[in-house]
Amino acid sequence: MRLRFAWMVLAACLLGTLLPAHAAPLVDAMRGATPVGEPTSPPPMPPVENRDQRRGRAFAMQPPTIPHKIDGYQLDKNFNRCLFCHARERTAETQAVPLSVTHYMDRSGNVLAEISPRRYFCLQCHVTQVEGKALVVNDFKDATAVMRARDAAPAPKKK
Ligand code: HEC
Ligand code: HEC
Repeated sequence: MRLRFAWMVLAACLLGTLLPAHAAPLVDAMRGATPVGEPTSPPPMPPVENRDQRRGRAFAMQPPTIPHKIDGYQLDKNFNRCLFCHARERTAETQAVPLSVTHYMDRSGNVLAEISPRRYFCLQCHVTQVEGKALVVNDFKDATAVMRARDAAPAPKKK
């Protein structure tokens, strides 16, 4: 009996630490002030950016975003429209950026002659961008900016 009481006290304490004291109101930048039960009127879809200018990358292993339109490109088990331009043997003709070596590696790191099945469905990792306003605030700084800020800050005093 005593043991059971002790367990109940312990469970109550744990629950107390897990649950927030007062739940913050749910704010969704895409819904705005519309209550959850009501449908919103979505803004018109912005056009896909199509400037053919390769964009910067935020970190070394970032899959680059797609700087051109991909409307209607077939990408299924029968045909890969992306490879039609981006495959190693096609790029001299198309002037597309060739796939990097990681796209030819299997999971053991062996470099294959053809694209690795792990990298066949390009849109798993690469996405187009739209000419729209950001839906949520983003104050991401890339690693170089963080390191510069650190180096510019006065060094901590030695004790
Ligand atoms: C008609 C040829 C063509 C097709 C098809 C094509 N691309 Fe491209 N792609 C290019 C060219 C050329 C560039 C170089 C930048 C530019 O001109 O837009 C490029 C650039 C890119 C880049 C940027 C690379 C970097 O280093 O910044 C990515 C990512 C990309 N394409 C992915 C794709 C994906 C995914 C598909 C299929 C959905 C695709 N491309 C289909 C020609 C093509
Ligand atoms: C599993 C994720 C993934 C898939 C799937 C994938 N990629 Fe990538 N891709 C990356 C990453 C990560 C990079 C940047 C680092 C690197 O080169 O490995 C990249 C880089 C690239 C680049 C730039 C190469 C360079 O040297 O600058 C092109 C072009 C590209 N991918 C096209 C494609 C195309 C076309 C497909 C589909 C056939 C594809 N990728 C599938 C993750 C992926």
